[in-house]
Amino acid sequence: MSKITIIGAGNVGATCADVIVSRELADEVVLLDIKEGISEGKAMDIMQTAALREFNTRLTGVTNDYSATEKSDIVVITSGIPRKPGMSREDLIGTNANIVKSVTENILKYSPDAILVMISNPMDTMTYLTIKTGNLPKNKVIGMGGTLDSSRFKYYLSKALNVPASEIQGFVIGGHGDTTMIPLIRFATYNGIPVSELLSQEQIDKVVADTMVGGATLTKLLGTSAWYAPGAACASLVESVIRDQKRVLPCCVALDGEYEQKDIALGVPVVLGKNGWEKIVDYKLNDAEQALFNKSAEAVRNMNGVLSEMKIV
Ligand code: APR
Repeated sequence: MSKITIIGAGNVGATCADVIVSRELADEVVLLDIKEGISEGKAMDIMQTAALREFNTRLTGVTNDYSATEKSDIVVITSGIPRKPGMSREDLIGTNANIVKSVTENILKYSPDAILVMISNPMDTMTYLTIKTGNLPKNKVIGMGGTLDSSRFKYYLSKALNVPASEIQGFVIGGHGDTTMIPLIRFATYNGIPVSELLSQEQIDKVVADTMVGGATLTKLLGTSAWYAPGAACASLVESVIRDQKRVLPCCVALDGEYEQKDIALGVPVVLGKNGWEKIVDYKLNDAEQALFNKSAEAVRNMNGVLSEMKIV
């Protein structure tokens, strides 16, 4: 019996639940929210598509009842406030840190062995917070941002090349902020052909810029932050863990000297399997890429510092 819990039944949490149950990634899925009725309603709505979409996973919605989450294999944390137009992910830190900390404590009471997937923003800092306060093996805390940013990167590359996004390989590493993420053009290929051989510098610059503001562009259009791509990115990550697929996806994980950084959680390509993130893949950055990574780490480290200023860690 496999079980996945999703905390937060808002836009991202409910979309994530929808993709997870429709792909039958677990026998049982629990959707929990603090707001009365919302998780029950959304779970019921999704379950009413079971006959149409032919899935057999059971999704249950609960209001703040953590006993229903007992013995979850994976817990996805989306609870918190989303960005509004003009806000950066960093603006959410105070509110979301307190929510994420108390949610994690409750989760671990009922599922001490769970693998935690962090989505609440600022995601790098929320992942760091959970590593610091959750007292879990480091491989069991995975931040989702890089998987989403990489999917956006591949989409913009596919548009520029006019080819299917599934034919593109590429990674975004570093922080999950608009200015801290690093789309790694040098490693991006169309079926093995470096995209730098297929696109002009101007086109490449536009792909990189569009990727970096990918989330902010949507926040402006939607009036709140995006949910389809975050939900789908989360489901891909969860699938690799629960099915032990050993896929390589960029995720925010604790670094202990890898990529020249330590005491920080930052996006790097990792192998995802039944033990959580199992291995960091070393892409051997050149000097310019490493300098960007170090700069990104510095910005994220400054933000993590707010947690101690606020006496949260
Ligand atoms: N416990 C459980 N649920 C909570 C709690 C809590 N302590 N606090 C808030 N929530 C719930 C809210 O009731 C709401 O239903 O979290 C949900 C958040 O949903 P939305 O407001 O729709 O936000 P969403 O767009 O899903 O984004 C969630 O993911 O991408 C990030 O930046 C985004 O941090 C944000 C998070």
